[in-house]
Amino acid sequence: MRPFTIAIFTLSLALSGPVAGADVDELLAQCEDCHGSGGISSDSDVPTIAGQNATFIEKTLRSYQVWGRPCIKSSFRHGDTSRPKTDMCQVAEGLTSEDIKALSAHYSAQPFQTANQPFDPDLAARGAALHQQRCEQCHEQGGTVPDRGPRLAGQWTPYLRKALKFVPTGEHLVPPAMESAVDDLAQGDIDALLNYYASQQQ
Ligand code: HEC
Ligand code: HEC
Repeated sequence: MRPFTIAIFTLSLALSGPVAGADVDELLAQCEDCHGSGGISSDSDVPTIAGQNATFIEKTLRSYQVWGRPCIKSSFRHGDTSRPKTDMCQVAEGLTSEDIKALSAHYSAQPFQTANQPFDPDLAARGAALHQQRCEQCHEQGGTVPDRGPRLAGQWTPYLRKALKFVPTGEHLVPPAMESAVDDLAQGDIDALLNYYASQQQ
């Protein structure tokens, strides 16, 4: 190579750092066209992903890669909404391990914001008691702290309702102890729990 060519080659190598960074930004833009700005969703069927813990986000993206969770077809909510519908399995398929780590670190560091949604105070009170008995062990401090399990307090009710529906069918894999905790819940118990999580608003 002639010195000039070497110089150009070296320069392009030096520039590849910021280019790799731009790729993560592109991914984030794609995520936020559904999950909302900063990972805070304004659509009740799309979960807020900001402020969940990094391990949960990472594990979730990996389970979508192996179809370990149901993948619901979804339209883009922001940006170019004429793009064809896609789903989380397709989104996750295109991610490398580095992408998954970067996305999980990014969203776990973003502030969570509770959804502004209606709830019934009486049902919420019953749900609070049920939560203490059955769910607090993993969804700590009333479901506000993502640690052993994801944050539930302030998550969108329609999304949570759908997520719970897939647990008994085995389509959404959760720890066996959670399976037994939700197994014999009556519809009224589920309504109470969901009203409790909806009632936790900032
Ligand atoms: C076309 C819309 C769309 C795009 C793009 C999208 N998502 Fe999703 N995502 C959803 C929907 C809808 C759900 C909930 C239903 C499901 O599980 O299929 C979801 C679920 C998730 C969950 C599970 C959250 C939980 O509480 O269980 C994570 C994590 C997630 N997405 C991360 C991402 C990341 C990171 C990106 C960008 C790389 C992304 N999503 C791109 C629509 C989208
Ligand atoms: C033994 C620990 C444990 C117990 C007990 C438990 N959970 Fe979970 N839960 C988890 C873990 C871990 C996940 C994440 C699994 C996954 O989605 O991959 C989860 C996921 C969930 C999700 C999906 C949330 C999302 O954002 O995708 C809901 C809803 C949920 N739990 C509700 C409950 C309720 C309601 C109870 C009590 C009746 C309960 N859990 C009891 C550990 C537990």
